[in-house]
Amino acid sequence: MLNQLKETAAYIRANSQNFLPETGIILGTGLGALAREVDVEYEINYADIPHFPLSTVESHAGRLLLGHMGGKKVAVLQGRFHYYEGYTMQQVAMPVRVLKLLGISRLLVSNAAGGLNPDFNIADLMLIDDHINLQPGNPLIGTNLDELGPRFPDMFAPYDANLLRRAEAAVAALGQTATTRRGVYASVPGPMLETPAEYRYLRTIGADAVGMSTVPEVIAARHLSLPVLAISVITDLCAPGHLKPVVLADIFAAAATAEPRLTALVKEVVAGF
Ligand code: HPA
Repeated sequence: MLNQLKETAAYIRANSQNFLPETGIILGTGLGALAREVDVEYEINYADIPHFPLSTVESHAGRLLLGHMGGKKVAVLQGRFHYYEGYTMQQVAMPVRVLKLLGISRLLVSNAAGGLNPDFNIADLMLIDDHINLQPGNPLIGTNLDELGPRFPDMFAPYDANLLRRAEAAVAALGQTATTRRGVYASVPGPMLETPAEYRYLRTIGADAVGMSTVPEVIAARHLSLPVLAISVITDLCAPGHLKPVVLADIFAAAATAEPRLTALVKEVVAGF
């Protein structure tokens, strides 16, 4: 496992003249346009990277971009892997581990999520400040890779307070306060969306938004001691009274509406590093 990770990192290094990214960025469903803000120096298709899983979701491009954003060195995963695609949790988390071996010192994650908090609106951004893992597993199960991190990583502060402060400052500087929230993200396996009773349950246990990703990657990142900033785009409203059948096109439309704000926010935060 560790050898595979090292081989994958070595391939990327060899194909990017040893480019050393400082910040890793994972782009979620419908949010790939953020990649336009990257001055791309190296672009590598997942299909060409040894041991890398392939994205099966059409809305995910399946490319690793290495370059500069806001003048800072970034590695952008344009397309992520979900448990519902049939990958193991180790595969879902693998790109995060590879980016760490490439040298990143922080991770920024985006996703599309359903809003459970009745105060949320479609296309709001939510800075994730905690999570509830309802996935049927996690990437740390199995023999611990001591070279990567401890057997029992602490999860007292899964989302880095310093990065959250930077994000809040960027939100204020960009005039995005009215459309930005903070809250708890619940991660479910999917791929079906939730029943009305399940949405009520998720709200009852303390979630503000629900989605099918992010938490496995965050767990792997915390195991690696990487500080994490994660941002959800609220693509549909799931609070009682707002609930209606979810149309995938509506999710993409909401992601597209929020995309310019998300892009500006991520760029502002990265430029400040
Ligand atoms: N539930 C789960 N995942 C999602 C949702 C949802 O309502 N919206 C976007 N991703």
